[in-house]
Amino acid sequence: MKTVFVKSYGCQMNVYDAARISDVMAAEGYGEAATADTADLVILNTCHIREKAAEKVYSELGRLRALKAERLAAGREPGEIVVAGCVAQAEGREIIRRQPAVDAVVGPQSYHRLPELLREARRGGPAVDTEFPPGAGKFAGLPAVSVGRSRGVSAFLTVQEGCDKFCTFCVVPYTRGAEVSRPVSAVLDEARRLLDGGVREITLLGQNVNAYHGLDEGGRPATLAGLIERLAGLPGLVRLRYTTSHPNDMADDLIAAHRDVPALMPFLHLPIQAGADRVLAAMNRRHSADGYRRLIDRIRAARPDIALSSDFIVGFPGETEAEFEATLRLAAEIGFASAYSFKYSPRPGTPAEERPGQVAEAVKTERLARLHAQVEADRQRFNRATIGRHLDLLIEKPGRHPGQLGGRSPYLQAVHVDGLDARIGDVVPVLVTEAGPNSLSARPAARGVDSLSGQMTAAA
Ligand code: 5AD
Ligand code: SF4
Repeated sequence: MKTVFVKSYGCQMNVYDAARISDVMAAEGYGEAATADTADLVILNTCHIREKAAEKVYSELGRLRALKAERLAAGREPGEIVVAGCVAQAEGREIIRRQPAVDAVVGPQSYHRLPELLREARRGGPAVDTEFPPGAGKFAGLPAVSVGRSRGVSAFLTVQEGCDKFCTFCVVPYTRGAEVSRPVSAVLDEARRLLDGGVREITLLGQNVNAYHGLDEGGRPATLAGLIERLAGLPGLVRLRYTTSHPNDMADDLIAAHRDVPALMPFLHLPIQAGADRVLAAMNRRHSADGYRRLIDRIRAARPDIALSSDFIVGFPGETEAEFEATLRLAAEIGFASAYSFKYSPRPGTPAEERPGQVAEAVKTERLARLHAQVEADRQRFNRATIGRHLDLLIEKPGRHPGQLGGRSPYLQAVHVDGLDARIGDVVPVLVTEAGPNSLSARPAARGVDSLSGQMTAAA
């Protein structure tokens, strides 16, 4: 049997896509290889969001080319190399020019055509597909999600893809294309298959997941909140999450779902990017810093214990020291449970790429360090504040030590617990005892009411 190894870079949607690419190749008779070195087919599922991601791909391709050469020298089949994902979409044929050892280049909307492309490549040399198929697109062409392979208890499910927002720094509208939502029935079918396969938690994915507007069975557009309600009713499902959201699409019914749907976890990743209105406008974010603050107030009114997370970009063209300090202030006021901060990276073909006022690298580095130190302190504070609380833990895997189990809190914190009589996939009440830099420690607890959320924890 031939084998495939898919290596994924970047976001969670790429993790989902990698699993679907494996499904496509499994239908062609490919098993999964444990490493690139032993695989007949290596697929790099790439990310183009920032510079370093693409450069990593080119250096990995250099390594794979050497592997092909070694195999040929040893009189063996050289194997095949595919570049998928957003670098494939953005660079297209340029990848083959820079690295002729690549057999096929396939964009994120075309990987259902991968077997065809490989056949094409075997006949006539490197094949490229970076088209955006119309309508249902790739989802209609994909085999049903496989449940044979172990996916663990927590799975991603893409419900929406692409973006029409055109933030001036971002390549996503160009690499992933226009916003498309999958129909409600397709999402429910895929969720049922995942749940049948032992999944307990589903994270709904989309570049703008809260702009979801897939059609329901009656042909009417649903909202993300409507979809969440339908999913929450499926037997076997215990937890739902969604990511990533845009502040302007936080509809009232979605905010209410955080109050009303117990399966919807109290965690929200809601990128703000910057804290100064002039920068937000230059980024084409179409909301103000105060608008974001008011939105957070409404979300916290609906679900007081919700953990908030954000993305920040420092050193956007023209960003002054005072504007950067507005970002620091906003982050401090909100008190994020976690946050990702990035240096602005000019992306080819985006409006901000050639704007005047590009910020010097040293300044970006210094701002990033300051922001990072601050949000990291907030994250640690949030984690310490859970010490002494009774929380439900979804057990995901064995812990590092014998007798230990690892899982996630409702707030997405990694938690390990000793001496717990539970199985992978169970939801169990624990008492948080310690907060380390990257995870919490807990001990088994009886069912009880959590002090902060006021919610009853699961039956032990
Ligand atoms: N430079 C730096 N960060 C970026 N992001 C997107 N584009 C860029 C860029 N050109 C960040 C944003 C986004 C996250 C996924 O990546 O913060 O929310
Ligand atoms: Fe990129 Fe902005 Fe769309 Fe997010 S909302 S994917 S940052 S263009």
